[in-house]
Amino acid sequence: PSIKPWGGRFAEATDKFVERFTASVSFDQRLYHHDINGSLAHAAMLAKVGVLTGDELIQIQTGLEEIRSEIEAGTFEWSVGLEDVHMNIEARLTQKIGITGKKLHTGRSRNDQVATDIRLYLRDEINAICGELTRLQTGLVELARREAHTIMPGFTHLQTAQPVSFGHHMLAWNEMLERDYSRLKDCSARMNQSPLGAAALAGTTYPIDRHYSAELLGFDRPTENSLDSVSDRDFAIEFAAAGSLLMTHLSRFSEELVLWTSAQFNFIDLPDRFCTGSSIMPQKKNPDVPELIRGKVGRVNGHLISLLTLMKSQPLAYNKDNQEDKEPIFDVIDTLKDSIKAYADMVPAITVNADVTREAAMRGFSTATDLADYLVRKGLPFRDAHEVVGKSVAYGIARKKDLSEMSLEELRQFSGDIDEDVFEVLTLEGSINARDHIGGTAPKQVLAAADRAAQRLNQR
Ligand code: ARG
Repeated sequence: PSIKPWGGRFAEATDKFVERFTASVSFDQRLYHHDINGSLAHAAMLAKVGVLTGDELIQIQTGLEEIRSEIEAGTFEWSVGLEDVHMNIEARLTQKIGITGKKLHTGRSRNDQVATDIRLYLRDEINAICGELTRLQTGLVELARREAHTIMPGFTHLQTAQPVSFGHHMLAWNEMLERDYSRLKDCSARMNQSPLGAAALAGTTYPIDRHYSAELLGFDRPTENSLDSVSDRDFAIEFAAAGSLLMTHLSRFSEELVLWTSAQFNFIDLPDRFCTGSSIMPQKKNPDVPELIRGKVGRVNGHLISLLTLMKSQPLAYNKDNQEDKEPIFDVIDTLKDSIKAYADMVPAITVNADVTREAAMRGFSTATDLADYLVRKGLPFRDAHEVVGKSVAYGIARKKDLSEMSLEELRQFSGDIDEDVFEVLTLEGSINARDHIGGTAPKQVLAAADRAAQRLNQR
């Protein structure tokens, strides 16, 4: 007789290649813990409604827990012939406890089983990812507080724009990660419904209690529709999409760290332990960690497209296509966890070269807008002020002088409205302190924003 639980109607053994080609056990064994938890809840429900006896339930519980230990001890023998994690565990249970093991699958299909397993698994992994994200954000907010008074050039088009507080720049990253966190939480909350009881696609004839198994597994409620329950993987797509955005944010962050650690910028230093050297150039210290994370966004985007594409045009209900969801999901999880961990470890160790960033902010006429705003306060229309300052900048470029380095007489060639008090607005401190409103770069505001960010993190 076939070892396959579905072998009854088959006249010949499965082709060996087909067996290997259709099997998922090499990768879906990662679901073992949640598969066992799902089975425990299903069995408890069957016992509650009288489909299993109390004694049978205990045998199943004991058997499944032993199997969990075998898997964790590395002594469990996975068989490709048994296709996937579900049938491997079920077959082992029957081997251990005999005929009762064969009753576990009553009122259930692998279709609702796997839909349950992935949701349970993803729920836990999203929690772990969110925990690391909180650690990273906490580090960012502390760095922002530490460097609230550090001045750097803010850029648009990667050209010097206006001076900003280094801490303000860090809090921009924190806002992006805050939204990533809430996207992951949303995805987890929407996913948190129990497919158990949907069975293959239409439900089951047993007097099941879906609310009970849902509750045992910490789901909010059973899913509404059995066909939908076994077929859609939109929750996995949502997760990958949230992951893509998160990695996109980290890739932008990485790009800046790579630029900033270059000799040409020299804005920051990363400790040696986060960098690597070159086998030929003895002087090199390369920012491999941010570079690699910048690169890894590619694989996550790829997995998002894989998942969207495997779902596209599938007729209801379950199709084997869905077995292809697992490797992308697992790799998105691994990539997010590693990348966020690397960042959470690295961010608190960033040191800022405040004299260099200040010097850089002095170059490129970063206070030109402040001069225009000054003239507006003296009564000039903004467009005329813009023109006056443009001429002063052209003069400064020709003579290699910042606006703050010009004498009052020099500045007054461009407008008689300029007085001695102009020098207050032309300083870097004057410029950032003047942006004194919620969301602005004044250090006072940055510190208040850091307080609010820390408060949100504490409330998680
Ligand atoms: N290994 C399968 C998967 O990952 C489990 C469900 C299989 N169901 C089926 N009817 N063949 O989707």
